Amino acid sequence: MNAEKEAPIGVFDSGVGGLTVAREIMRNLPSEKIVYFGDTARVPYGSKSQNTIIRYSRQIIRFLQTENVKAIVAACNTASAFALEEVQKEFDIPILGVITPGVKTAAKATKNSKVGVIGTEGTIGTGIHRQYLQAIDPDIQVFGKPCPLFVPLVEEGWLKDPITIEIARRYLQELCQEGIDTLILGCTHYPLLRSTLSELLGESVTLVNPAYETALELKRLLEKLDLINPGQKEEEFPYRFYVSDLAEKFKAFANSILPYDVEMTKCVDIEEY
Ligand code: DGL
Repeated sequence: MNAEKEAPIGVFDSGVGGLTVAREIMRNLPSEKIVYFGDTARVPYGSKSQNTIIRYSRQIIRFLQTENVKAIVAACNTASAFALEEVQKEFDIPILGVITPGVKTAAKATKNSKVGVIGTEGTIGTGIHRQYLQAIDPDIQVFGKPCPLFVPLVEEGWLKDPITIEIARRYLQELCQEGIDTLILGCTHYPLLRSTLSELLGESVTLVNPAYETALELKRLLEKLDLINPGQKEEEFPYRFYVSDLAEKFKAFANSILPYDVEMTKCVDIEEY
């Protein structure tokens, strides 16, 4: 029985961005082990088609199953938007995405029923946040804005650069004009821009970080399924990292944002799965 509880959580993303979700899981579920997969060979997902993202997600889930994970978090917003419903039907393992946790929090947070969502072109194009928010409350108006330049800016480390601030100003202009009071940071990288965005938007706009909300949702799910790891991590590498390309580059980024020294990062040929 304990073997299942002691099994790791699988977390996957198109690349490094999902580390913002892994980081929240580390903080909020410190006794859990994690196997992270970043699809660095095939990133970005945000500009690819739904069929491609479903195929990629299937392969990654098959790989994570070989690591005997007890549950999987699709940390990528684009994969959650495009593929979650499909893979949840296909695989016999609990799979959580990052869209629903952010949506639930945003629906509670908004006072004027005007919610903004920023994300990749793929995520915003699905309209999934509108669909889910209006399923909770049909009166909520949802304003989506793709912000594709944020991903490379974050990976460049230009979190507070004047160029990033100017690009953010342009992207957020329409949402501000619509009078949103809540903004969902609907892409893995955007929580790293949180303070830049909140300085631009001011205190009247609540920022929702799906990475944090997903960690809390995962905790509730593990409690419900009686799958919380009761013991301390004993393994030498409680957090294991796999990528499909450029392991060293991944490791450098991971070490810059995680409260943990990433030692083990391995390359996997994901097309084999
Ligand atoms: N991880 C992706 C997301 O959250 C952003 C990067 C990409 O386009 O692959 O949507």
